[in-house]
Amino acid sequence: MKILITGQHGQLSRELQQRLQGLGELIVLGRDKLDLANPAQIRQQVHAHRPDLIINAAAHTAVDQAESEPDLAFAINAIGPGVLAEEAKTLGIPLIHYSTDYVFDGSKPAPYTEADAPNPLGVYGQSKLAGEQAIAPWAAST
Ligand SMILES: NC(=O)c1ccc[n+]([C@@H]2O[C@H](COP(=O)([O-])OP(=O)(O)OC[C@H]3O[C@@H](n4cnc5c(N)ncnc54)[C@H](OP(=O)(O)O)[C@@H]3O)[C@@H](O)[C@H]2O)c1
Repeated sequence: MKILITGQHGQLSRELQQRLQGLGELIVLGRDKLDLANPAQIRQQVHAHRPDLIINAAAHTAVDQAESEPDLAFAINAIGPGVLAEEAKTLGIPLIHYSTDYVFDGSKPAPYTEADAPNPLGVYGQSKLAGEQAIAPWAAST
């Protein structure tokens, strides 16, 4: 099994690289090879490697910085994941993508569940929520 992991040096990517050893061939693409802000490059890399599974471990995670570069945050966290989902759908393979607690406003006096209504307060959370919304149409029919 070929597993394509986006991001190379991030916390999640490094953990996945350790824990998925032995499950198959890991194709780890840092942003130098697969820039989530570059839809054409995403498509080219997915088609070149033809993986059996895509794990999106990459994101624009600089919460404060996102406030001053919203276009880049949305490109990386929303548009890019949507393209990944479209490409995964085209290949008929699963995409694993990660959300964040920042899609919620933090006002609930109990732990959040996936069923709770999101209400992000900043650009990072808004862009991550937009990513989920960009992926959803492709996931629904997979
Ligand atoms: N860490 C947490 O506490 C936490 C909590 C909730 C949710 N999450 C979610 O978990 C996922 C992983 O987060 P993390 O903590 O591992 O983040 P991180 O340590 O900040 O790593 C971010 C990763 O994103 C990659 N990246 C940034 N810009 C990119 C671009 N334009 N194109 C391609 N890759 C790019 C980086 O790539 P390079 O390696 O090439 O530099 C890096 O691997 C994200 O979806 C995040 O929202 C994390």
